[in-house]
Amino acid sequence: MARILIHAGSPLEGTVAVGGAKNSVLKLMAATVLAEGEHVLRNVPRITDVDCMADLLRSMGLTVTWRDGGPDGPASLVIVRPAEIEPVAPYDLVERMRASIVVLGPLLARFGYARVALPGGDDFGPRPIDMHQKALEELGATFTFAHGYIEARADQLLGTRILLELPSVGATENALMAAVLAKGTTVIDNAAREPEIADLAAFLNRMGATVLGAGSSTITIEGVDELAPVEHTVIPDRLEVATFLAAAGIAGGEITVAGARPDHMDMFIQKLGEMGMRISPTSDGLWAMAGRRLDAVDVSTLPYPGFATDYKPLAVAMLATADGVGIVTENLFHGRFRYVDELVRMGADIRTEGHHAVVRGKPALSGAPVRAWDVRAGAALVVAALKAEGETVVSDVEHIDRGYERFVDKLRSLGADVRREG
Ligand code: UD1
Repeated sequence: MARILIHAGSPLEGTVAVGGAKNSVLKLMAATVLAEGEHVLRNVPRITDVDCMADLLRSMGLTVTWRDGGPDGPASLVIVRPAEIEPVAPYDLVERMRASIVVLGPLLARFGYARVALPGGDDFGPRPIDMHQKALEELGATFTFAHGYIEARADQLLGTRILLELPSVGATENALMAAVLAKGTTVIDNAAREPEIADLAAFLNRMGATVLGAGSSTITIEGVDELAPVEHTVIPDRLEVATFLAAAGIAGGEITVAGARPDHMDMFIQKLGEMGMRISPTSDGLWAMAGRRLDAVDVSTLPYPGFATDYKPLAVAMLATADGVGIVTENLFHGRFRYVDELVRMGADIRTEGHHAVVRGKPALSGAPVRAWDVRAGAALVVAALKAEGETVVSDVEHIDRGYERFVDKLRSLGADVRREG
C-alpha cells in the first residue's frame, strides 16, 4: 500500500502546472460513445479514475490509447468507437467508480438500449439516480430493474422540457448527452452550471450538436441525427488548483498555478481572500500569496457557482490552522465528515453536528499516521500536514491517485517536504 510522508517545512514557492479536470474528462470520455470513429481528448490527467473509465469503454468494445505528451506536456487519449458496441456497464467497473453512470444517457441515445449496474453508496452517503432516470423517462425512455442492473430502452428519444428537482451534475450530463440525438427541442431547467457541464457542451457542439446555454440554469438542445468524432482540449481541474492554493494557505508562501482558470473558481478565491490570502489572475493562470496565518471564515457548500462540496475537506484543513472559529455546513451530500476524525488525530479541534463542523483553529497540528478516505479528503490531509509538527504518514493513497497526477512531485516542486513510498 502506498503512503505519503510529510514534514512541515518552509513556505511554498514556485510554479506548478494544473492538469485536465477529472470531472470533465470522465464525461467527455462517455460522450465519445455518441459518434463512430476516432476522438482525441487532449490535456488528459493520468489518474486512476480515467483508467477506470477507459476500462469501461474498452469493456463495451471501444479502443482507448494514451498518446504521450512529451517530457512535461499533458497526455492525450485516442478513443475509437466502432460501429457496434456492447452497451453494458458491468458491476465491477461501476462499483470502482460511480461516475460510470454517465454512460447511461449517451448509450441510450445512440443505441436505444443500455444496461448499467446500479451504483452503490460511498463515503458521501447514498448515490441515488432517481433524477437521471426521471429526466431520461421524460425524453421517452423506459426503465426496468433486475439483478442490480438498470435496463433502459428507447426506440426514439423525443425532445421535451425537463425540470430538475435540484441542479444535479450527473443528471444534467445524462440528460444533455441523451437530448443531443433526440428528435426536436429539449430544454433542461434548473440545470447544473458547473464549468465541466459547459466543457461537455462545447465538446458536443464541436461534434455537431446544437446546445445553447450550458453553464447557465437553462440549457436548450436542438436534436440532430448524427454526430462526428473530434479533437478537444479538457478544461483545467479547478479542484487541483484549489488544492495547491490550500497548500499555500496552510504552509504560507507565494505560488503560481499555471493553466488555472480563476473564472471557474470565483467563490473559492473569494473565500481565500476573506481568509487573508492575496490571489490575482496572471496571463496563464493565477498567483497566490499567504504572508501570515489565515483568518477563520464560515463556509457553506452549494451547487455552482456556490462553494463546491469538493472543496470542503480543503476548507476544513485550512480552518484547522487558521486564527479563530469557522463553521462549515454541508448542503449537498449527507456529509459523513469521516476525514475529520483523521484531522482530529492530527490535533485539530473540530466538532461535527449533523451537517455542520465547527473548526477551532490552532497555530499548528501534530503529525500522525492517518488514512485517506476519498480523493479530496486524502489531499486535504496531505496539505494539512504541511503545518503539523513531526511526521504525518497518509495511507490509502490509492484514493488520492484517483484524482491527482504526480501529486507529490508537484508539491515537492513548490518546496514542500513530501515524499511517497510505494
Ligand atoms: C459530481 C461530482 C462530484 C461533486 C458533485 C457535486 C463527478 C464525477 N462528480 O457528482 O465530485 O461533489 O458533482 O458538485 O463529476 N442526487 C439525487 N438524485 C439523483 C442525483 C443526485 O438525489 O438522481 C443528489 C445527490 O445525492 C447529492 C446531490 O443530488 O445530494 C448532488 O449530486 P450531483 O450533483 O448529482 O453529484 P454527482 O454528479 O454525483
